[in-house]
Amino acid sequence: MAINIPRGTQDILPGTVEKWQFIEKTARDLCQRYNYKEIRTPIFEHTELFLRGVGDTTDIVQKEMYSFTDRGDRNLTLRPEGTASIARSYVENKMYGDSNQPTKLYYSGPMFRYERPQAGRYRQFVQFGVEALGSNDPAVDAEVIALAMDLYKGLGLKNVKLVLNSLGDSESRKAHRDALVNHFTPVVDELCGDCKSRLESNPLRILDCKKDHNHPAMKTAPSILEYLNEESQIFFANVQKYLTAMKIPFVIDANLVRGLDYYNHTVFEIMLEGEGFGSITTLSGGGRYNGLVEDLGGPNTPAIGFALSIERLILALDSQNITLPIDNEIDCFFIALGEEAKVEVTSLLYQLRKTGLKGEKDYQDRKLKAQFKAADRLNARYVAVLGEEELQRQVINLKNQETGEQEEVAIDIFVKYLSSK
Ligand code: HAM
Repeated sequence: MAINIPRGTQDILPGTVEKWQFIEKTARDLCQRYNYKEIRTPIFEHTELFLRGVGDTTDIVQKEMYSFTDRGDRNLTLRPEGTASIARSYVENKMYGDSNQPTKLYYSGPMFRYERPQAGRYRQFVQFGVEALGSNDPAVDAEVIALAMDLYKGLGLKNVKLVLNSLGDSESRKAHRDALVNHFTPVVDELCGDCKSRLESNPLRILDCKKDHNHPAMKTAPSILEYLNEESQIFFANVQKYLTAMKIPFVIDANLVRGLDYYNHTVFEIMLEGEGFGSITTLSGGGRYNGLVEDLGGPNTPAIGFALSIERLILALDSQNITLPIDNEIDCFFIALGEEAKVEVTSLLYQLRKTGLKGEKDYQDRKLKAQFKAADRLNARYVAVLGEEELQRQVINLKNQETGEQEEVAIDIFVKYLSSK
């Protein structure tokens, strides 16, 4: 019996992979313009990192991690997200000692979560993300958001909505937490099992519950924005001021809490509005995590970042019928008639590729007509035909596939000639 791909994973085949490459290149170029440098961290980490980093009361840690013990009895986990690893690496490599602060990093790579798969939700997905560590300037929050919005806009995506909230500093969060406990305690028996335990462990998570989101107590729950202390209010106002200066529209949603525990102050999600994208409308999310580096044994370091999955981005582009400017042409397809011509063509094709042009030839011994069809399928700009008679005269027949024009070109100048076209 054939073996199938694991549930929630995808093969990205030629024809689609070009979209990935284009998006990855666009994202890299964008990061260069914003002066973010690439970082690559391992795909697995010590499980402890995510327990401490992402938070042991989150769904990710409680239900979704791919954890295993290796042959040396170490508890390891396939990374479910990138931020905890980046913060670990920042501490381990003492990046805080670099005089260039904030440390601005970006990453792209597979993440793993044991989730119920559906369109836009997979068990292996690729996140592209950025993290800026070492500055508490709200302008950095605005910069990270601007970068994210720039990526979507640069790819031509429309109806992109920025949703913003503030979770405040620890003092504000504590006041809000107490208010949430008071609010939900009288109705705790009507809430799901998860929310019952969240009331003790992490009441903010209740606001994010998928089962209880229609419970009347949700609508009247105390809003974090009413509990922000003055410092947190000023910080949030400044983020908004910078976004407004860049003319980046946003809406504030006091119920946006995010699914990871490390956040404080700014949190945001970028959503796609409108039809045709299925039920998952969140394209990306991020926020400030001023306590994480310290929790992982580093110095007190403010930080902010965001991440998106390329899978969701591609679904969004497809839903708006956006075709990316992908170059899927080849410059020349060679047709050789006869064994000697085949040898000459092999050499010409080799030289052509060495000059940087894209070339191909037939390897299936197809008839002439079928070879022209193959050239069409490959979007060849030119077809070069070498028969025995041309070989004797040391010329090759070059056909422009767009205009249909044909000409004979001397073999010894052929590659140079085509390079000039
Ligand atoms: P997150 O909201 O868990 O945040 O994930 C960020 C993005 O990853 C989501 O908005 C979505 O595009 C994508 N994503 C998450 N789960 C899946 C899935 N199962 N299938 C497909 N795509 C998915 C984080 O991971 C934070 N580390 C973001 C961050 C960076 N915060 C600060 N810095």
